[in-house]
Amino acid sequence: MTSVALPTIVRTGEEIRKRVRDAQRSGQRVGVIPTMGALHRGHLSLVDAAREECDLVIATVFVNPTQFAPHEDFDRYPRDLDRDAALLGERQCDLVFAPSVDEMYPKGFETSVDVGSVADPLEGERRPTHFAGVATVVLKLLNLVPADFAYFGRKDYQQTLVVGQMIRDLNLPTQLRVCATVREADGLAMSSRNAYLSPDDRQRAVALSQSLALASQMVDMGERDVVRLRAAMMNVLDQAGGIDLDYISFVRSGTMDPVDSIASTTVVLIAARVGKTRLIDNREIG
Ligand code: PAF
Repeated sequence: MTSVALPTIVRTGEEIRKRVRDAQRSGQRVGVIPTMGALHRGHLSLVDAAREECDLVIATVFVNPTQFAPHEDFDRYPRDLDRDAALLGERQCDLVFAPSVDEMYPKGFETSVDVGSVADPLEGERRPTHFAGVATVVLKLLNLVPADFAYFGRKDYQQTLVVGQMIRDLNLPTQLRVCATVREADGLAMSSRNAYLSPDDRQRAVALSQSLALASQMVDMGERDVVRLRAAMMNVLDQAGGIDLDYISFVRSGTMDPVDSIASTTVVLIAARVGKTRLIDNREIG
């Protein structure tokens, strides 16, 4: 049996920053994958992407309290650093930065990053403090881990726009890499929150990606009207039963600008509650 080297776990900002700087001084390219742990194949594909183009690969594991509203799942969010480290070791991740809440938000911490309009609609409307929490922690992580490249999954489409806007506006030296959504065999987008689904809800949840696939097929066959596309998608969700739709939205690709007909590449975004679990997914069409 071959044993896999576990990545070194670093707990302090001072140490991780020194390791990144030392690597960059010796000419190494550094990649970072920010995560909240509970890793799945989606996260691991980001590690693979970083491994392809970087010499030093760092995953951060931090369940960030500031991006959860008080009624959300911060307390029950799955945490298992040993499991995460073992999975990261299998993908040859070099370092794991796993700070404590006190390390990231010491007493007296007050700053919050507001990236503006891209954070306002859809997730921003439903979760009003969420993107400020995400932007603030990602900025802190990129200051502590000033990597050449940061890897994010396309599944969180609006989040990738928020992070991209912040990187541009604040002149951060890190380049954003957005990687494809990884799906289960039946199409369900990988998410740490899939673990909350009961077996019945897990069956139903596939309707989200099925509805996106149907919209894509309809557009390929010439449909351009967003009202008809949305109605067809809702029909798929209704047939699955037990799905409480939050939104279906069509935006111009690379933006959060809504469209009412498919004239150019468009992203369809969907959010729904399946049982008690809120899931999001999206797909580029047209
Ligand atoms: O996508 C996530 O897991 C989180 O929002 C992130 C980017 C790690 C910030 O906490």
